[in-house]
Amino acid sequence: MQMQNGQPYAVPIQETGGAPGMRGYQRLPLVKGFGKTQRIDNWWNQPAMMAAALGIAMIYTGLRVILLDGSIHYENHRVTSPIFSPDVLHMFHITNHPGWMNSAMLILWIPFGFRGTCYYMRKVYHRTFFQNPTACMVAKPGINHGVGYSGERGVFIINNIHRYMLYLAVIILSMKYYDVIHTMRFDGSWGFSLGTLILAFESFLLTMYVVSCHAFRHLFGGSLDQWRGGISSVAGWVFRFSSRHNASHNLWFWTSLAMVFLGDIFVLSVAEGLISDPSFIMR
Ligand code: FES
Repeated sequence: MQMQNGQPYAVPIQETGGAPGMRGYQRLPLVKGFGKTQRIDNWWNQPAMMAAALGIAMIYTGLRVILLDGSIHYENHRVTSPIFSPDVLHMFHITNHPGWMNSAMLILWIPFGFRGTCYYMRKVYHRTFFQNPTACMVAKPGINHGVGYSGERGVFIINNIHRYMLYLAVIILSMKYYDVIHTMRFDGSWGFSLGTLILAFESFLLTMYVVSCHAFRHLFGGSLDQWRGGISSVAGWVFRFSSRHNASHNLWFWTSLAMVFLGDIFVLSVAEGLISDPSFIMR
């Protein structure tokens, strides 16, 4: 580590001049060796936390859907766990299904596909699971120099389905709102409970995640040259709204994901009788 006035500092980028015709080409002073770097901050914090969060989320979801799929909702105003919502089996009155089947098995491929092909998620898994690289200015494992990164090619071409996953995600999202409204029916009366608010907040965060999506933004603004009059001004308004929140897409990604699991733990706890769900009913 180099020191200046008693303080550590990173070596500045050196201008090499480059080959003829490539003026301004810069060689980064990247030291070789997995995890080696001249960065002086705690650069490993973020990728380590992201890897832990995604790992726990995947293991928890697998266990909950396959092994611990009891108590996915509680009566009498039927609050359904976000992992199993929309509860399509209940929604479409499907009763003649195998005993081991649940709604999450039928619909989870959509949120998984949507999140898995998300532009922000690509950055996350390249940094956490592939170490390609773990962070800016940090050397990657030797094997990754052989594999390299060639963009959305080979198996990664699957990412191009993201816009189609968006359309499916919008359908799933609207069905989630149906589940929220369902929690407001109490034996013929209307009302709401803490469970209603939790599901509504989860749906709101998911809405913001969808609205701030790059593909959603392109859907409303990508094919238009101008927003002037009629339906195009509405498209322009949506585009600007989406653009504003697109800058915080990572925030919506993580908060909406966390709320799925917090909501599930709440529903599980109420269904198992560990806590109660205070409600307000209008008579
Ligand atoms: Fe992240 Fe579409 S959901 S870019």
